Amino acid sequence: MKLLVINGPNLSRLDIRDSSIYGDLNYGELKSMIEIAAGKHDFEADVRQSDDEATIIAWLHEAADKKLPVIINPAAFTHYSYAIRDAAELVKTPLIEVHLSNPLSREEFRHTSVISGVANGTIGGFGPNSYVLAIIAMQNLVGK
Ligand code: DQA
Repeated sequence: MKLLVINGPNLSRLDIRDSSIYGDLNYGELKSMIEIAAGKHDFEADVRQSDDEATIIAWLHEAADKKLPVIINPAAFTHYSYAIRDAAELVKTPLIEVHLSNPLSREEFRHTSVISGVANGTIGGFGPNSYVLAIIAMQNLVGK
């Protein structure tokens, strides 16, 4: 089964972001890890990244139209993009929010997620393994 994995702004630059917060993998390595983990759980992952809100919204519309399950790390958009929230709400297949870090243990502006309310669940704080845990959760959700 196809799985759309959407990564938001600045995640392509994990190579120069704070590795004590985001872990040691660069974006290419994270993408490969997600593809391999997805394969082990019977998914074919289409892993994408954009810094652009409109592009992410178009990808969510595509997921809604094609009925694709979605794992999304909206990055900083998590905290304020009502437009991405409204697009995520259109996805009727399962949608899981992930974060590399634990936003609730960081600055106060990261404590709000406008996405969580339209996600099946949120996984954060486990570095790249957050995505693996989300894939396992997704397998359970689509298997129901
Ligand atoms: C993030 C957490 C966000 O607060 C931050 O803006 C990011 C990455 C994470 O994966 O931990 O860019 O979504």
